[in-house]
Amino acid sequence: MSSSATPAGKKTVTVSLEGSNRSTNLPVFSGSIGPDVVDIRKLYGDLGVFTFDPGYGATASCESKITYIDGDAGVLLYRGYPIEQLAEKSDFIEVSYLLMYGELPTAEQLETFRKGVTYHTMVHEQLRRFFDGFRRDAHPMAVICGVVGALAAFYHDNLDINDPKQREIAAYRLIAKIPTIAAWAYKYSIGQPFMYPRNDLSYAENFLYMLNAVPAEPWKNNPILSRAMDRILVLHADHEQNASTSTVRLAGSTGANPFACVAAGIAALWGPAHGGANEAVLKMLAEIGTPENIPQFIREVKDKNSHTKLMGFGHRVYKNFDPRAKIMKETCHEVLAELGIKDEPLLDMAMELERIALSDEYFISRKLYPNVDFYSGIILKAMGIPTSMFTVLFAVARTVGWVSQWKEMIEDPSQRIGRPRQLYTGASQRDYLPVARRG
Ligand code: CMC
Repeated sequence: MSSSATPAGKKTVTVSLEGSNRSTNLPVFSGSIGPDVVDIRKLYGDLGVFTFDPGYGATASCESKITYIDGDAGVLLYRGYPIEQLAEKSDFIEVSYLLMYGELPTAEQLETFRKGVTYHTMVHEQLRRFFDGFRRDAHPMAVICGVVGALAAFYHDNLDINDPKQREIAAYRLIAKIPTIAAWAYKYSIGQPFMYPRNDLSYAENFLYMLNAVPAEPWKNNPILSRAMDRILVLHADHEQNASTSTVRLAGSTGANPFACVAAGIAALWGPAHGGANEAVLKMLAEIGTPENIPQFIREVKDKNSHTKLMGFGHRVYKNFDPRAKIMKETCHEVLAELGIKDEPLLDMAMELERIALSDEYFISRKLYPNVDFYSGIILKAMGIPTSMFTVLFAVARTVGWVSQWKEMIEDPSQRIGRPRQLYTGASQRDYLPVARRG
C-alpha cells in the first residue's frame, strides 16, 4: 500500500491458524471513502496460507483515486464528482480530462486537451488495409480488438512505458483513434467507404459522422442525438476495477504496451456478462417477442437448469440501483420523444419486463436491478446504431477509463506484476507411466 492510504486508527486484524501456534497481525487501511481493507501481503510469509476469493468479491486488487462506487447506495463518482452531475453538465472530453488528470480542467487546459485528442484522430493510412483481412461479416468487436492491438505496430515512437511523455501520447492516441477504428469496423461490415475524422466536430458528433455519413451526401448533425451519444459515452467512461479494467491492469503489470493492454480490455469487455450485455438485451427482447411471453420468460430465468439470465439485470457491486441505468432510462425517453417515436414496442417490453422483475421475489431477494445495459440498447437502436455495434460503443467510451487506470498503475511506485496464486486441487506428484503400462 503506498503512502496515501492511511492506517485506520492503527487498526489491525489478528489472524491465527487453528491447530498451529502461529498468528499474525495484519494492518487495516482506510481509503477516503468506502470499506477499510486488510493488508494481507504478509499472510503467506507469516502463516503459510493464501486467501481464496474466486471472482474477487472481497478483494481490493489495487489502490486507486479514479472512480468510486457505493453499490448499496447507488453512488458512482468519477474523481469525486457524481455521475448525475457529470452526465447533465459536463461532456465526454471534459470527463476524459478529469479521469486522466484528477481535476476538472480550466478553460485553457480543456482547450489544449481537446485539441490534443483531436490532433490524433486519424490512423496510419496503412492501417486501413488491416481491415481488408477480415470477413465482412466479422463481429466488429473482433475487428477492433485486432486493429487496436495492431496500433503497437504503427506507433513505435510511444511504446516506452517508462517515459511519461510517451505514456501520455499513447493515451491521447488511444482515446482519439478508437472512434475512428470503431466506425471503420462498421463501415467495413456494410461495404461503405471509410469516412475520415472531422476535427471541426465534437468527439460524439465526429463519431456519429464517421458512422453514418457517406461521401455522396451532405451530413447534418442532429444535436439531440449527438448529445445523447455524448451522455452514453460519459456514463460508460469508467467503472473502477471491473473485469475489463482489471484485465488492462493485469496485462499492463507485465510491462506490455498500452495498445496491447487496451486490446486485452476489449476482449474482456466483449463477454455477455460484461459489455456484451447491451447487445444481448436486444436479442433477448427480440426473442421474447411480445409482452404476453414475459411471464413464461421470467419462469425460465428463475429455473436454474435453463441457464437463461435476464440480460441487463444484476450487478456485482450495485445492490440497490445502478445510477447509470436511471440516467439511461431518462435519456431513452428523451431520445424517443425527440425522434418522434411515440410507440417503441421494445421500450414497452423492456418497461414491462422491468416492472414484473422488480415485483418478483426471485429478483427482490437477490437484489437484482436493471443495470446500465438494460436501456442503452433501445436508445442506440432508435439512433440507428446496429446491434453488433453496441458493445463497440461501450469500448469507445471505456478506453479513457482503461488508459487512466493503466497510467495510474504504471505511476504507482508499489506496482508489481499481477500474479495471483491458487487453491490447487489436482493430482499430487506422481510418476510418469509408459503407455503400455497404463489402464
Ligand atoms: N438473471 C437471473 N438471475 C440472476 C441474474 C440475472 N441477470 N444476475 C444474477 N442472478 C442470480 C444468480 O443466478 C444468483 O442466484 P443464486 O444465488 O440463486 O445462485 C444470484 O442472482 C447472484 O448472482 P451472481 O451470479 O452471484 O452475481 P455476480 O455478481 O457474480 O454477477 C452479473 C453479476 C452482472 C455478471 C450478473 O448479474 C449477470 O450475469 N447479469 C446479466 C448480464 C448483464 O446484464 N451484465 C452487465 C453488467 S453491467 C455492465 C458492465 O459492467 O459491463
